Amino acid sequence: MNINKEGQTFQSIQSEILIVGVSKNQEQLVGWLDFVEVFGNPITEWIKEGDIATDLKKLTKIPSLIPTTQVKRILFVGLGDRKTISTDELRESFGLVGKELHKLKAKKVTLWVDSFVTADIDSTEVSIIAAEGAGLGYYNVQNYKTSSNAIDVKIEEVSFITTADMQEIVAGFEVGQVYAEAVNEARTLVNLPGNILTSAKLADYAEELAKQYDFEIEILNKAQLEELGMGAILAVNKGSVEEPRVITIKYQATDKWEDVIGLVGKGVTFDTGGYSIKTKTGLVGMKGDMGGAAAVLGAMRIIGELRPSKNVIAVIGSTDNMISGEAFKPDDVITSYSGKTVEILNTDAEGRLVLADAVTYAKQQGANYIIDVATLTGGVITALGYDKTGALTNDETLFETFLEASLEAGEFVWRLPLTENDKKRIRKSDVADLNNSPGSDGHMIFGGGFVGEFVGDTPWIHLDIAGTSDAHGAHDLGPKGGTGVMVRTLATFIERLAKEDI
Ligand code: BES
Ligand code: ZN
Ligand code: ZN
Repeated sequence: MNINKEGQTFQSIQSEILIVGVSKNQEQLVGWLDFVEVFGNPITEWIKEGDIATDLKKLTKIPSLIPTTQVKRILFVGLGDRKTISTDELRESFGLVGKELHKLKAKKVTLWVDSFVTADIDSTEVSIIAAEGAGLGYYNVQNYKTSSNAIDVKIEEVSFITTADMQEIVAGFEVGQVYAEAVNEARTLVNLPGNILTSAKLADYAEELAKQYDFEIEILNKAQLEELGMGAILAVNKGSVEEPRVITIKYQATDKWEDVIGLVGKGVTFDTGGYSIKTKTGLVGMKGDMGGAAAVLGAMRIIGELRPSKNVIAVIGSTDNMISGEAFKPDDVITSYSGKTVEILNTDAEGRLVLADAVTYAKQQGANYIIDVATLTGGVITALGYDKTGALTNDETLFETFLEASLEAGEFVWRLPLTENDKKRIRKSDVADLNNSPGSDGHMIFGGGFVGEFVGDTPWIHLDIAGTSDAHGAHDLGPKGGTGVMVRTLATFIERLAKEDI
């Protein structure tokens, strides 16, 4: 999509669609008189009479009857009273705009930036939020229908009307675009079926990404994992014909490889549960069990684009969890990369095993902080539902900064406790150092807590996205399917750390 950097006037717009924010007191908006002078006085009346809705998140599309302009339609976006709209609500409103633009197959679009400005949200923020929200809303899930003759529609050009500095508006819009595109890439990965997105394919994807952004990358295959003794991920992979991968990407922003943030993702490309097999309904959707890996790769894409001054290492453990005569089974005892032994009580608690080795590797490669992201437990859904990511941490200060980033991104995160008693239960085994499934009570904590055993004293945040990674239905910011959750929070977090020099 081309960004037209020439500021537009209402008379000169060359787009088919003009997007305008509209509130109850619209006449007070600076520029409103210029707008109605070109597009017609009755518009003010239509707003008063409710023919153009001002309600929050209500869109009204009217044809332009003015022969002297290229504009075919005006898309009004209801802002309520304009005073109380939050950045989250504005982003969601733009999500709806994105959906509408997709439906209309819009090619050229003009955004009247100033019509969305509020007391709390300035024009640069509007441009970021507009690009991000519309970019997310615009996303459609790729399908494999042979009857589908849908041509990939794309917006060709966007331009702006604003009294603010055009360079700042364009820069803001570009940042929003980067964020949206990275999330959408993550969504696509989550949506890819397990027979198509194998661990090897995920590694190929990461390699492409690394090439594009000049990241250092290392991909360990099965033989190399065996050589290193990564017994935990290898145990999960034992029943599979697809070889596992451990993918490591390094982004070095400072001269010295220090203060390194480690992003660790669960990349289980399909989770049958293994011998502790899932139910037939539980199996459906398990192609998305690599949502953590997708979030990490999405965040790395943003980092590659925006290049914050913070060292980052991403480690992804990837395999599927299958059944065969070779597969690992309950009662097995395995030795992880760290040397710690684990008694397997449930082969469906495989994510924590994959993460155990990945976390150990990240630390060994220099990570001074660890954020792990995983579709780890059904327990988090029981605890928090489908709209909240569950968290654990061992570092209050780090978590505080993280929460601020999540609020800025509009992604809800809620922390659960991890107590000494929980740890005791994770460490309870007659035959090994740890067990991988202490019980079904509050088991989101056991999942994350198990990973914590391999993190040790390193400042750490665990994110369980089992509820938030895959949407069960369409939402304002996108369709049913992969959400790309945590991509924006992780990137925002790293940008904050870089700025605050933490
Ligand atoms: N991949 C699942 C968790 C999951 C559940 C993700 C629902 C997305 C939606 C994970 O590997 C798993 O099976 N966890 C088990 C752990 C249990 C056996 C201790 C669970 O949560 O049921
Ligand atoms: Zn599982
Ligand atoms: Zn799983």
